[in-house]
Amino acid sequence: MQLQITQSQLLTARSAIKSVYLVTLQHPQGERLSYQPGDWLTVQAINPVELVRQLLERLNLSGTETVSLRKAGEVSVSEALGRHLEITQLNPAILNKMQRQLQLGEWSDRSAMIEYAYGRDILDLLTEFPQMARMGIEFLDWLAPLAPRYYSIASASDKTVQVLFKAVRYRFNDRDKSGVASNFLASLSCGDLIEADFKENPMFKLPDDPQTPIVMFGAGTGLAPFLGFMQQRVREVNGGDNLLFFGETEKANACLCCDQLEAWEAAGRLELFLAFSRDQAEKRYVQHLMDEQRERLWFLWEAGAVIYICGSQKHLAPALEGLWQQWFIEELALDAAAAQALWQQSRKQKRIQLDVY
Ligand SMILES: Cc1cc2nc3c(=O)[nH]c(=O)nc-3n(C[C@H](O)[C@H](O)[C@H](O)COP(=O)(O)OP(=O)(O)OC[C@H]3O[C@@H](n4cnc5c(N)ncnc54)[C@H](O)[C@@H]3O)c2cc1C
Ligand SMILES: NC(=O)c1ccc[n+]([C@@H]2O[C@H](COP(=O)([O-])OP(=O)(O)OC[C@H]3O[C@@H](n4cnc5c(N)ncnc54)[C@H](OP(=O)(O)O)[C@@H]3O)[C@@H](O)[C@H]2O)c1
Repeated sequence: MQLQITQSQLLTARSAIKSVYLVTLQHPQGERLSYQPGDWLTVQAINPVELVRQLLERLNLSGTETVSLRKAGEVSVSEALGRHLEITQLNPAILNKMQRQLQLGEWSDRSAMIEYAYGRDILDLLTEFPQMARMGIEFLDWLAPLAPRYYSIASASDKTVQVLFKAVRYRFNDRDKSGVASNFLASLSCGDLIEADFKENPMFKLPDDPQTPIVMFGAGTGLAPFLGFMQQRVREVNGGDNLLFFGETEKANACLCCDQLEAWEAAGRLELFLAFSRDQAEKRYVQHLMDEQRERLWFLWEAGAVIYICGSQKHLAPALEGLWQQWFIEELALDAAAAQALWQQSRKQKRIQLDVY
């Protein structure tokens, strides 16, 4: 479906080390949107024009040649590279195929391929393997279709939908790189139209009973779904407790949506716990706040609270899982295996819900 941008806000300071945006979209004809807090919005992006130009040059193509793609049918090479094929990231499957079919590359196994692919794009591949560039138009058959990117919905409304995202920008091999979808979203202005879709996420949902207390843990853009949860929860007059543990880098530059969070706190609707990792010599993370609130959190857990975790799969999620399991061991006199089993069972029962990436 098409959605139209109605607002785009840069939430981080210009001097911050990262750029995080909150973008608001609506149906172009104002039709009702059908999603629930906790669902995702998928975005079909357009590849960076300059990268397409460099690839055409490297493949010795003008761009007006035509190719036939499985989904899009017959399109020009420029359109294929611009709209339909994955070029800002390198799929390790290409490396596997190169090794099997052309005996190129010396990766020992799949994890070596994943490690090689991280940070590289298709232009890097053509630079490091000029044999691939000499294939010209045939090389396009090696590229994966441009996948829609997932964003956790940061709102709860049938008129608009919001997404909170970090513009992925980094330097690798002496080139400045930009992730396709996050920078496409960041470049949009009011009135622009995008191709997007709603995807249900039944594993990350508010409890049916609004009286059930909820405890939310998020870091960075992991805050996103909790904005939607809170928009929904504040509509209940006598709803249950809402606790949010949120971590970011610096209060001055990256306190994402803090005005809104503090307004909910001042209205008595949210208990807010903030950790800024880079505002003092020692790292201060969400799990440190969690440990400080152990007594209250354990009380809420026993009272039936639902626990939500959103953010980094590599860092935040394992740290919180480890600490909860430690609490299970200490509070319930379990051994490590039983604590892990209880964690799994709590996830199955949706007492603990994760949206991590
Ligand atoms: C379920 C789910 C929910 C998500 N929700 C959100 C959300 O709410 N907000 C949000 O911002 N994102 C979210 N994401 C991530 C989002 O889908 C995209 O992956 C992200 O925006 C990057 O996409 P991109 O197209 O901009 O970058 P791509 O073009 O896909 O580039 C990403 C690639 O760049 C490379 N790379 C990235 N950073 C570095 C680095 N520092 N150093 C070296 N290489 C690097 C890696 O190879 C990486 O694979 C979610 C993902 C999932 C799966
Ligand atoms: N692959 C991709 O292209 C891509 C793109 C977008 C997002 N993502 C994922 O989305 C996440 C969100 O990115 P983000 O910049 O918004 O947030 P982030 O990198 O997760 O950082 C947010 C906060 O979490 C802190 N943190 C670091 N390690 C932690 C740990 N072990 N436990 C708890 N907190 C920890 C950070 O501290 P310090 O940094 O000061 O240590 C920072 O204060 C990323 O980590 C990544 O997993 C991936």
